Amino acid sequence: MSWAGPGRRGVRSFDVGCDSTTEVGGPRRSRGAVRDGCPSVTARAVALARSQLPRPSSPDGDPAAEQRLCATLPPLPAWWRWRRRRGHLAHRTAFFDQEVIDALAVRIEQVVVVGAGYDGRALRFRRPGVRFFELDHPATQADKRRRLEAVGASLEGLTFAALDLMREGSEAALASAGHRLDRPSLFYCEGLIGYLTRPAVVRLLGELRRRAAPGSRLALNAAEASSAPPRWRPRAAARRLALAAIGEPRRTVFAPGELEAVLESTGWRIVRLERRVHAGRGARLLVAAEPRPGP
Ligand SMILES: C[S@@+](CC[C@H](N)C(=O)[O-])C[C@H]1O[C@@H](n2cnc3c(N)ncnc32)[C@H](O)[C@@H]1O
Repeated sequence: MSWAGPGRRGVRSFDVGCDSTTEVGGPRRSRGAVRDGCPSVTARAVALARSQLPRPSSPDGDPAAEQRLCATLPPLPAWWRWRRRRGHLAHRTAFFDQEVIDALAVRIEQVVVVGAGYDGRALRFRRPGVRFFELDHPATQADKRRRLEAVGASLEGLTFAALDLMREGSEAALASAGHRLDRPSLFYCEGLIGYLTRPAVVRLLGELRRRAAPGSRLALNAAEASSAPPRWRPRAAARRLALAAIGEPRRTVFAPGELEAVLESTGWRIVRLERRVHAGRGARLLVAAEPRPGP
């Protein structure tokens, strides 16, 4: 694995709304997790912040293509940038990078990125014989595909499937994308779970379990509420309001122990759980799991 240094730090005028190049007929409010027709702003924010981090890549990977992709993304206003949470993002990025590296090391040939946004691991960790499946909301995925094409990124080994996980199941989408039930997969959901309702999370985890051949692995991150009484925090409240305003409200924060129970009930056995507790503010969880034996 090689390591590349930080990427671009440019700051231009910002835009948190719909990119005019992706909009036909103006944005509509959505019952789904993002505004219909609008690429995800949170996906853009994460990709821009992650592009500043030193990252590993595989010998056949093309990390420069990921940097070119990120360089096309319109910058965000200062309050959107991850200054205060950069440490968390670096830790989370390293966790998911390592899950991919470990999966490739044990010859897993299918990597399913759920809620992929502008994640560039399919480029960065490309490897002959390995297929990356990216599932995402149609507007964000279409925008990403246009940007990848514009920067001349090779899409070898990458298959896209567009769907709204609040309204549609992922099993049929994966099957028709060519995902194989008889081969193990790494499934990962980075920065996705909080944007889905609990029923949608439970359904998704059950569906992924049904597509998980023995030897598969699941990695995800989620937020856990504090067991202490909630305190008024203007900054956190402002952020919640901002997310709701852009059509990406936070929908799921688990009670302590709840995520573990959900994973258990959907057929997953936790093999690694990192809980970073923030005094009085709950915790951020990074979880890896494997399918419990059974159908
Ligand atoms: C915070 S972004 C994270 C993106 C990416 N995983 C990353 O870490 O860079 C949340 C992602 O979840 C996707 N998402 C949210 N709600 C969704 C839904 N209902 N169906 C499909 N994708 C959804 C968004 O389109 C977006 O790409």
